[in-house]
Amino acid sequence: MKGLILSGGKGTRLRPLTYTAAKQLVPVANKAILFYVIENLIHAGIQDLGIIISPETGVLVQEAIGNGTRWGVNVSYIVQSEPAGLAHAVSTAREFLGDEPFVMYLGDNLIGSRINGLIETFSQSQVDALILLKEVQNPCQFGIAEVDAQGCLVRLVEKPQNPTSNLALVGVYIFSPVIHEAIAGLTPSWRGELEITDAIQRLLESGRAVTSYRLDAWWLDTGKKDDLLTANTIVLDEWARRDLQGEIDDQSQISGRVSIAPGSRIINSTLRGPIVIGANCLIKDSFIGPFTSIGDHSRIESSAIEHSVILNEVHIQQIDRLEDSLIGKNARLARHEQHRCLRLMISDDSVVEF
Ligand code: G1P
Repeated sequence: MKGLILSGGKGTRLRPLTYTAAKQLVPVANKAILFYVIENLIHAGIQDLGIIISPETGVLVQEAIGNGTRWGVNVSYIVQSEPAGLAHAVSTAREFLGDEPFVMYLGDNLIGSRINGLIETFSQSQVDALILLKEVQNPCQFGIAEVDAQGCLVRLVEKPQNPTSNLALVGVYIFSPVIHEAIAGLTPSWRGELEITDAIQRLLESGRAVTSYRLDAWWLDTGKKDDLLTANTIVLDEWARRDLQGEIDDQSQISGRVSIAPGSRIINSTLRGPIVIGANCLIKDSFIGPFTSIGDHSRIESSAIEHSVILNEVHIQQIDRLEDSLIGKNARLARHEQHRCLRLMISDDSVVEF
């Protein structure tokens, strides 16, 4: 079985971060979302991975992931010339996929469980498609599945205006090669895309076996700032470990699950986990509260931060209280001692709340 990871798209909802990075490379607990996806597929025994990339951010994805040798697997890249839909991405990868069954995994979907059980169910039941479902509050924003009283799939609809079900399609699917025939007959949806949801609906209509699997664990679509902070909170809450490397002076207090990477220095500061701090950071005269991730080479001085995601090479100085924030790479935040005015250099699409 092969793995097909979708890592294209424009990431418009995560601007400005996605002007300089692919949304799948934005970190959650200091690890790019795409790494969680790849590791989940590898854990399920998949050795041959194809990653769909866009012409705009593809090089960044290739640089971050490489050819798979670090995991002992093969990683190939397939360029999707335009974001023309998930089914279009599958047809772009037709040569890579050959006639093998495959797991398709959206590179911005984080799920709180392994996918081994899904693959076993698919293999044992000999179906042509297996979809993963989860109840959501806002079904209009997803592909949804209608099921009958016995739990069998009746109909799938992409982003329905009047949803008849609150069961959303999670971005993990398993297909037999029959899906390629269904995709070949598709026409673009109202949003101009070839929808994988429509292709699965065609399988149902033509009498093919399609089964579903309910996801019990959490699922996060990390496309927006608040989703990303939630993802960071959940991942730190569940997976953070206490691992204190670097240098910590006697004046500092570290409580709970705090992970500090090598080369970082903690001076006269209080850290309360769960927290993850990258390599070569300086935290001085500061308070870092729960659910905070700080990327490599960042410097926090005389500041208090909690429930935030701070990327690499950020400098924060004299900021009394920073909460619920997402700070992009190489950003500078400082309070001027004498002048009580604000001096800002804010990039396009930034959001600032005072
Ligand atoms: C896509 C799918 C949708 C699915 C969602 C999961 O939506 O089209 O059916 O529920 O991923 O993340 P999109 O991200 O293209 O809006």
